Amino acid sequence: MKIVVIGGTGLIGSKVVARLEKSGHEVVAASPDSGVNTLTGEGLADALRGAAVVVDVSNSPSFDDAAVLEFFETSTRNQLDAEEKAGVGHHVALSVVGTQQMGDSGYFRAKIAQEVLITGSSIPFTIVHATQFFEFLPALADMHADGDTVRVPAALFRPMAADDVGDAVARAAEAPPVNGIVEVGGPEVFSLEELVGRALEARGDDRKVIADPNARYSGSRIGERTLLPDDAATLGTTRYDDWVRTNRAG
Ligand SMILES: NC(=O)c1ccc[n+]([C@@H]2O[C@H](COP(=O)([O-])OP(=O)(O)OC[C@H]3O[C@@H](n4cnc5c(N)ncnc54)[C@H](OP(=O)(O)O)[C@@H]3O)[C@@H](O)[C@H]2O)c1
Repeated sequence: MKIVVIGGTGLIGSKVVARLEKSGHEVVAASPDSGVNTLTGEGLADALRGAAVVVDVSNSPSFDDAAVLEFFETSTRNQLDAEEKAGVGHHVALSVVGTQQMGDSGYFRAKIAQEVLITGSSIPFTIVHATQFFEFLPALADMHADGDTVRVPAALFRPMAADDVGDAVARAAEAPPVNGIVEVGGPEVFSLEELVGRALEARGDDRKVIADPNARYSGSRIGERTLLPDDAATLGTTRYDDWVRTNRAG
C-alpha cells in the first residue's frame, strides 16, 4: 500500500521508511527538502494522492514553547485536512510515553495539542507512545546541564534504540487503526542518573550527572515513574550495552 511518512528524512523517519520499503510498500519520505511542508501545506495534496496511511514522525525545528506549539498544531491540522480530502484511512503519529502527565512543559503541551487534534478528527488513528531514544541521551544531558554538572530528575525510564522505535511505528502503520495509544519501550529500566552518566562517560565527557529532586524534565516536574510505560507496552529487544557495541563497531 502507499504510505506517506511525514518527517521521513529524520532520525526515526528514515528508519520507518527503510523498514516499510523492505516490506514492499510504496513509501513517500516527505519533508521540506522533498517539497512537502506541513506548516505551509506545500506539496501535501500531491504527496497524499492515493495514500492509504500517513505516518507523522516529524518534529519542530525550534523547541521554543510558542514555536513548538505552533508547529504541532498547524502541521497536524494541515495533515488531517489533507488526509480527509485524499481519503486516507489511517493517521499514525509518534509521541512520547507520559505526555499526558507533562502538560507543565512547553514541548509536551505541544505534543498534547497534537494528540487532541488527532483524537478529535474523523481520520482513524494510532498514536505510538515511545520512550526516550538511546540516540537522545547526549541531548538529554545538555538539556539538564548546569555548568560542569548535569542535574536530572530522580526518575526511572525504559529507553530504546531508534531502530526499535522505527519497527514499532512501521508495525502500527501496517496494522488496522486502534483509535487509541499503543506504548513501546526498551527491554531494561534505568535511572536517568545512571544511564545519562554512562552515555557521557562513553563519549569521554567528564561532566558529573546527579539526580536532583528539583530538576525538571523538559520543563516538567515529573515523578519517579512518569517516563515508564504501562505493563502492556511492547518492549523492543535492543539492550543498551549491545547498542553501544554495535554503534562503536559501526
Ligand atoms: N527524542 C525522544 O527520545 C523521543 C521519544 C519519543 C517520541 N519522540 C518523538 O519522535 C518524533 C520524531 O523525532 P526525531 O528525533 O526522529 O525527529 P528529527 O530527527 O528531528 O526529524 C524531524 C523530521 O521532521 C521534518 N520536518 C521539520 N519541519 C517540517 C515541516 N514543516 N514539514 C514536514 N516535515 C518537517 C524534518 O525534515 P528536514 O530534515 O527536511 O528538516 C525531519 O525529517 C517527534 O515527534 C518526537 O516528539 C521523541
